[in-house]
Amino acid sequence: MAFRNRSFTDIHSLTREEIEFILDKTAIIKAALLKKDRSIYRLADGMDLMAASLFYENSTRTRSSFEIAAKKLGVEVTGFSGIEGTSVKKGESLQHTLDMFRAYLCDAVIMRHPLDGAARFAADYLDIPIFNGGDGKNEHPTQTLLDLFTIREHLGRLDGIDIGMGGDLKYGRTVHSLAIALSKFSNVRLHFFSHPLLKMPQGVLDFLQQNNVDYVEHDSLYGTLGASDIFYQTRVQRERMPDDEEYQKAKDACRITAAHLSAAKETFGLMHPLPINKEYPEVTPDADASPKTIYRQQAGNGLPLRLVLLALSFGLMGTEFRGKSNGVEQRSPSFYTDLLVVKKEQKTEQNLKPIQGSGTVIDHLVPGTARKLMDLLKVEERCDIYRGGTVRRRSNRDELKAMLMIENRRLTDDELRMVAAISPKSRINTITNGEVSRKIELHMPDIIEGIPYLMCTNTGCITRPEHHEHVTAKFIRAGESLLRCYYCNAMMGARELF
Ligand code: CP
Repeated sequence: MAFRNRSFTDIHSLTREEIEFILDKTAIIKAALLKKDRSIYRLADGMDLMAASLFYENSTRTRSSFEIAAKKLGVEVTGFSGIEGTSVKKGESLQHTLDMFRAYLCDAVIMRHPLDGAARFAADYLDIPIFNGGDGKNEHPTQTLLDLFTIREHLGRLDGIDIGMGGDLKYGRTVHSLAIALSKFSNVRLHFFSHPLLKMPQGVLDFLQQNNVDYVEHDSLYGTLGASDIFYQTRVQRERMPDDEEYQKAKDACRITAAHLSAAKETFGLMHPLPINKEYPEVTPDADASPKTIYRQQAGNGLPLRLVLLALSFGLMGTEFRGKSNGVEQRSPSFYTDLLVVKKEQKTEQNLKPIQGSGTVIDHLVPGTARKLMDLLKVEERCDIYRGGTVRRRSNRDELKAMLMIENRRLTDDELRMVAAISPKSRINTITNGEVSRKIELHMPDIIEGIPYLMCTNTGCITRPEHHEHVTAKFIRAGESLLRCYYCNAMMGARELF
């Protein structure tokens, strides 16, 4: 995919070739900015381009560097920094706020939002590029790109490196995105150190394992620094914790001092997305003065990097790119297979009276799911005539299967999709005049959406009803009975959804 009109909402969707192309362009723009060579970077002169900068959360670096980058490029910027004084305070949804900036003919949106998946929602909703400046604890892809640029600048390469990460690995979106990005390079080893309450989420560790990235969870900060070419420190994110107890326990567990830096190798670099907490500093003032800290240079790299991203999306740069892109994932709309209907005498071994007229028999259900399905299908609420039970499989007497018979009812496609998600491999028998007229076997749908009572398990997800953003939950199949939230990337078992 070319870069023109492209949104940058996550790091997953960028290929290694695209990342390297962006970093190469950033090096050119950085040199031009330092020399104030406007002919290289002022690419939007006289083009009447306007970017909306919508920062629902506090920011110094991301917002300022995007805005300065836009101005250097020749793009005007409008919007807000914090929701005080905006109609968000009157309860306006993200969708309606986006509507306004589109109506005012903005050509791009740069945003930071507290809800996971907000940027993905915005990118799907609007037809202009979205730049994710951080969505909840989910991702911060433009930070990750400038982090990669800084690592490459400092070490000269992105393959064959040892990167440590510490502080708040649980809530820190920067470390999640960076770990995912580094998995695209060869022989990268990751070293994690944090308080046990703030460990790297299992979903990220599973991703690294699946992508053959070596990682070690260390129990000593000295050990982690000693094993690392670069250590990426992060602030403990009090604002994302459910209560103060977790913060009080964890806030001092990963503090880097000058002694730590003296023990690290000569070429070592300490990175940090910033800000550092001045009350409980995760990098102490004596360490802050060390030449081994490279986070000021890192933050400065945000300017050329974000200028490049804006220029690419506006089609002002990079139209020559012919490298590999991740295409749009092909998803099959099918979630069942028709089976041959073999006429046979109805067996009564199940001790369940067969349907004599018409109706639906859901068979081969995973035991324990029948009750749940009855609730979801509103069987009792609708006063359906039904029978359900658990029986032994005829083919294997040790195995149990559950079934549910509903008289005078055919299931809709949405209802079938829901049964498929909760109990893949179950079978639906359509009964007409007491006989099976159609039999299908369900399998986990590639995409599950449009089912009103589906709920992502991540309470910070934009689709959760308590946030009142009216974004319908949507899931992508990630394994036999494993799903990934389309918006916030949280992984969950299919049965947790209902
Ligand atoms: N690194 C970063 O996102 O900093 P800000 O919160 O200041 O934007």
